[in-house]
Amino acid sequence: MQLEGSVALVTGANRGLGCDFTRALLAAGASKVYAGARNPEPSDDPAVVPVRLDVTDPAQVADAAARLTDVTLVINNAGIGGGRTLLADDTVQVAREQIEVNYLGPLTVARAFAPVLAANGGGALVNIHSVLSWLAHPSAATYSASKAAVWSLTNSLRTVLRAQGTQVLGVHVGYIDTDMTEGIEAPKLTPAEVTAKVLEGIAAGREEVLVDQLSADVKSALPNDLELLYPNVQAEYDQAVAAATA
Ligand SMILES: NC(=O)c1ccc[n+]([C@@H]2O[C@H](COP(=O)([O-])OP(=O)(O)OC[C@H]3O[C@@H](n4cnc5c(N)ncnc54)[C@H](OP(=O)(O)O)[C@@H]3O)[C@@H](O)[C@H]2O)c1
Repeated sequence: MQLEGSVALVTGANRGLGCDFTRALLAAGASKVYAGARNPEPSDDPAVVPVRLDVTDPAQVADAAARLTDVTLVINNAGIGGGRTLLADDTVQVAREQIEVNYLGPLTVARAFAPVLAANGGGALVNIHSVLSWLAHPSAATYSASKAAVWSLTNSLRTVLRAQGTQVLGVHVGYIDTDMTEGIEAPKLTPAEVTAKVLEGIAAGREEVLVDQLSADVKSALPNDLELLYPNVQAEYDQAVAAATA
């Protein structure tokens, strides 16, 4: 879809990747960005409209969809991390929260805004997945599962919304330098590198964006994932356990 003149809703827009989506969309010619946040903050830019939006609150999402009738592009960006092994005391509670935000949140927003997008000619819906949608990493086991769920959701949404002309785009990416990865020592992309690739994908009408080489490599290994990916994951995990018990 064309970004020039678009009206976007970005969830989780107050920091991290969501904040950069707002900047990048305006730079690409969006006429307005609704900056969804649990605690919205005023903006100096009249093109940025703060909106109270906790994606786990169906009433707030429904209210937003009823009011923001000019939206042509929805970016389901809000998400929570929280690395957990499967055997931690609070694993089930954390998994429940991640499913609420990372999977049921995008589902609720997509259902509420699908009629708005249809009324405005189709537009586009973007869901932010992760490379961990495809790679179950034991240090982030429950997060991986929530991102696998939203990837599956995106594939169904694409099928269902095609008839109304909505472009449905899934984004896979490794580490990005935001609060979510604070304390993780690894090469990270900047939010601007990620949003540039996503906006390019929207403008080109793509259905999937693999932002980095890691995501491309993991996707291409999927037919042989047990042989190609999991020996490394197992070795890393065994090493971490050995280090923790040494
Ligand atoms: N960082 C990475 O390495 C990485 C890699 C792959 C994918 N991702 C995905 O990229 C997206 C953005 O993450 P990020 O790196 O920018 O993380 P972040 O810096 O932690 O920001 C997360 C954003 O989500 C919002 N949020 C959390 N729960 C919410 C809820 N219930 N309703 C509405 N907003 C909520 C947060 O708002 P508050 O300020 O209110 O908490 C914040 O704005 C997420 O979907 C994440 O899973 C990140």
